[in-house]
Amino acid sequence: MKMKVLLAGIAVDINKLQLDPAIEVIRTSSVSETLEVLQRNIPDVVISEFVFKDGNGAVIFKSIQEKLGSEVVFVWYTSKSDEEVCDKDFYLLNPLNRYIPASAPAEDLIEAIKDTLAKKEEKEIGKYVRVSIERFKKFNSLPCDVFIKLSDNKVIKIINKDEMYSQEIIEKYKGKGIKYLFVQEGDFATFSSFVYTTLRSSVAVARDDAKANSEEIDVSEKDIAVVHDLIRHLNVEQSTVAVLNEVSTTSIRTINKAPALKDTVMSMMKEKGYLYGHCLMISYISGLIANKMRCDSKTTLQQLSIAAILHDIALDSEELARVEDLNDEKNSPLDWKTKEKIKKHPIVAANLATKIKDLLPDVSSIILSHHERPDGRGFPRGLGPTAVLQIGCIFIVAEDFVNRVCCQELNAEFLTKIKNDFSKKYGKGNFRAPLQGLLDVLAKV
Ligand SMILES: [Fe+2]
Ligand SMILES: [Fe+2]
Repeated sequence: MKMKVLLAGIAVDINKLQLDPAIEVIRTSSVSETLEVLQRNIPDVVISEFVFKDGNGAVIFKSIQEKLGSEVVFVWYTSKSDEEVCDKDFYLLNPLNRYIPASAPAEDLIEAIKDTLAKKEEKEIGKYVRVSIERFKKFNSLPCDVFIKLSDNKVIKIINKDEMYSQEIIEKYKGKGIKYLFVQEGDFATFSSFVYTTLRSSVAVARDDAKANSEEIDVSEKDIAVVHDLIRHLNVEQSTVAVLNEVSTTSIRTINKAPALKDTVMSMMKEKGYLYGHCLMISYISGLIANKMRCDSKTTLQQLSIAAILHDIALDSEELARVEDLNDEKNSPLDWKTKEKIKKHPIVAANLATKIKDLLPDVSSIILSHHERPDGRGFPRGLGPTAVLQIGCIFIVAEDFVNRVCCQELNAEFLTKIKNDFSKKYGKGNFRAPLQGLLDVLAKV
């Protein structure tokens, strides 16, 4: 079936796209004509200008949301700024929604449309969960069907549910360079509980598992040392450090149990030293704040810690992870694609977190809100100080603190400055108690 793209008020030359037999392009030039076309067509993607002679594009966006729902991907291509055209919930309604400035060249627009269409198709593929091929090596039958991915939108079944299979088939695909097999999302809970129960019941396999875990921990030793340097400076009691160590280790194990996340987290640990250290520090500092707030049940500490490990998982560099204010002049050299990536990374990470089986409540919400700020200038939603959950506020205060002290000497003058800045910034709404918690953490320094 052809994918339908509706271009409302877009005059750029997109011949290359029109030549693609899999895509049908519809063009309109006014708000009224667009609304009329939408009566007869359900497009997959709408690319719209904001300014029209007979009104503005917000009318088109609203009409689509009301009549067709958020499944239709909406892309702004306009000279207006994203603040002017993107509603607070714009990216949440559909994570594929985008803003592209009209200053971007036509090739960028074509590439963005193709990319969006591919991702939309991939949503079907998204119903499959990726599992390392190594996981299939210890069995000869499974309680679900298993697939390989041939392309971004094609999978084929290679193992039938409950049917015996030989290891040769796995070796054959491994030999072809395939690293992952796929199970359907609906089967994933059954699959993983089957795999893990089986693994645990085997002493030999348990030994292998222990070996794998010690290798994982070796990778992170350097980063843990950085964290503990900071903790030492904060004069935290040894018993509290012991609890936080255990919580962090449990979080990494929990996340590693979700095959869809394990590989990403492992590569973060191996290749992105800064990000991993950054995540661990937030895990510890948010735990210390919760401790001072007397809200440090194991569940709360675990929620904060899992959120800490995953919150920047959609970013791949220290530089991007540290961008605090997208409107700040110092960030103006970033191109629109990078800005979009930054703006959406909390949404992407929050969605990924849901891949963890029996995920603790609020973890996704903490991740989603980690760039919100009490002055309402954060992203992606620009929430005010009472709209972020308090546990999310603990996380925000902790991350801001971690970023401020990163690579700095914690002398008295610097600490007084942080305390003053933070008191001004966070002394409101749900941020008040976490701010006090941080000040209490710093009181002994
Ligand atoms: Fe982030
Ligand atoms: Fe971060």
